[in-house]
Amino acid sequence: LPQPLLAGKTVMITAGPTREEIDPVRYISNHSSGKMGYAIAQAAQSMGAKVILVSGPTNLVIPHGVTTIQVTSAVQMHQQVMEQIKHCDVFVGCAAVADYRPLQSNSQKIKKSEQELTLTFIKNPDILSDVAHLSQAPFTLGFAAETQNIREYALAKLNAKKLNMIAANDVSDSSIGFNSEQNALSVFWPQGEKILAMTDKKQLAQQLMQLVAEQLKS
Ligand code: PMT
Repeated sequence: LPQPLLAGKTVMITAGPTREEIDPVRYISNHSSGKMGYAIAQAAQSMGAKVILVSGPTNLVIPHGVTTIQVTSAVQMHQQVMEQIKHCDVFVGCAAVADYRPLQSNSQKIKKSEQELTLTFIKNPDILSDVAHLSQAPFTLGFAAETQNIREYALAKLNAKKLNMIAANDVSDSSIGFNSEQNALSVFWPQGEKILAMTDKKQLAQQLMQLVAEQLKS
């Protein structure tokens, strides 16, 4: 029997949304369901990898045989990833991490008044970029959720974040992307590119991790 493609490898995957707290009863988030990231975790596990899934809040069942770390905010996700990344061979950033968080999280519920309410946001750490810039960086696969200029923006992210590969998701089409059952991806790496046509997220995750395994070998 041939060796499974990712035997002996440790793969870390971020999945789902993050929630950025405004006050004890409110937060800002996005429509990520975690389905794509959980499918990637399952695919990597089925290909023989040891898998660590760092997940934001989702309604999904934890995939069998996958070590899962649950987090809520981007800062927590960043902290968990940086603590565990040392022994990983591959990092897949599939989470829809909030780019900003409220400057202050109010310890008491914000009361309604007659005035307008203005919130100030500050930047969150970029988890994917920090992993890719480690001196002993793993193979990094990023995602790019775009609504226009898909190829150009994805290639810009590949270069700016020093990634090994990027999977661009056209989220202007609601049948693929956030909270859908199916997805399609345009995958770019420095020496090539491949379009993975629309199919269910489990199938797509298998195809994507096969591409990663091929690039990891070469
Ligand atoms: O969860 P589903 O409902 O199945 O939907 C899947 C998906 C649409 C969320 C997924 O396919 C996807 O595109 N994920 C990336 C979403 C995103 O935040 O993209 P971005 O272009 O804003 O970010 C680029 C990359 O940087 C991503 O790999 C992201 O994980 C990473 N990032 C971004 C900001 C940040 N502070 N830290 C990060 O690591």
